[in-house]
Amino acid sequence: MPESSIVVRPEPAGTPSRRLQAAGLGHATAVFEQLAATVPLPPAPRPIVVADYGAATGYNSLLPIGAAIAAFRRRTRPDHAVLVTHTDLPDNDFTALFRTLADDPDSYTRKDAASFPSAIGRSFYAQILPSQSVNLAWTSWATMWLRRPAAELPEFDDHVHVEHSDDAAARQEYARRAAQDWQDFLAFRGRELAPGGKLLVLTAAVDAQGRSGYRPVLDAIVAVLDELVGEGFVSRDEVTRMTIPVLARSEKELRAPFAPAGRFEALTIERLDVFDAEDRFWDRYLLDGDAGALGAQWSAFTSAAVFPALAAALAGGAAGDPRAAEFVQRLEAGVAARLASSPQQVQIPLALVVLAKRVA
Ligand SMILES: C[S@@+](CC[C@H](N)C(=O)[O-])C[C@H]1O[C@@H](n2cnc3c(N)ncnc32)[C@H](O)[C@@H]1O
Repeated sequence: MPESSIVVRPEPAGTPSRRLQAAGLGHATAVFEQLAATVPLPPAPRPIVVADYGAATGYNSLLPIGAAIAAFRRRTRPDHAVLVTHTDLPDNDFTALFRTLADDPDSYTRKDAASFPSAIGRSFYAQILPSQSVNLAWTSWATMWLRRPAAELPEFDDHVHVEHSDDAAARQEYARRAAQDWQDFLAFRGRELAPGGKLLVLTAAVDAQGRSGYRPVLDAIVAVLDELVGEGFVSRDEVTRMTIPVLARSEKELRAPFAPAGRFEALTIERLDVFDAEDRFWDRYLLDGDAGALGAQWSAFTSAAVFPALAAALAGGAAGDPRAAEFVQRLEAGVAARLASSPQQVQIPLALVVLAKRVA
């Protein structure tokens, strides 16, 4: 079965979307560094193995992995090899990943001579690393992507995101699949982690009030799609098929595989925080009052993250449909204009989960 084929476009350093992707990363990086300070390490010359699941361009992994390597170095000789393996789907832009690792001033490869980057182009909904090989693992903003692409998920016609749909059957089916995906992701990581190994997951969450966030942005997308149907640029059938195959999870859903004994596949939850990440575009708007910039930044972020998934529902597909490029441009312009006309803070609920594998 094909996996979700969403690839976030690589972008030059400092673009708005990248800065927003970094939301929540400061907190998670500090936690990751603490894990690196205490996780069991193999004796040299066996390498310390660090995995990064769903790396995209690798940009947001540089600081957490760099911090972890610095913490290892307080416990190891400088020449104890650290093998870092960045994973993503096969059609990820691995060239952009390796360029980031080589060129970005924040890259751990520029700071630590005994760090060795590598990459794997396979879905993390399978075992992709040898059993008991990974000492420390990171995954940010990736496990909320469902295994199935939108075309294989149930249709609902009143929104682009199932959490905002009134179709109870579709919501239930998405939740069922998201539960299975989370369980599978955990099961395979449970095999890959070395005894005592730890995995930090940063992912979209549903908060204690049941909110999954992003409401103004998602509603703006729906409104612009309606306009595009009205203009005859896309058909209603195409828009009905447009779905963002992402699901935020509540604390209860994140804990479900561990019930009732608190253990799943030799893993336990060591820590679970649900928190709202700051909306940095909003913070800047409060300082400069520039509603146009607020709309443009949120629209650019959303475009990079999810518009390719929507374009995939055009009759000719994201790659083959002659309207695809204009579709993304018009959506981006329309969403930016709507958000600028009614500036609002966007809620970004995140979950940080630390999983620990039993010490053998
Ligand atoms: C929004 S990006 C996050 C990238 C980066 N970790 C960060 O924090 O910015 C999500 C990434 O997860 C990847 N992804 C989605 N489903 C995946 C899967 N089943 N296996 C591996 N990677 C996946 C996507 O291809 C994409 O590169």
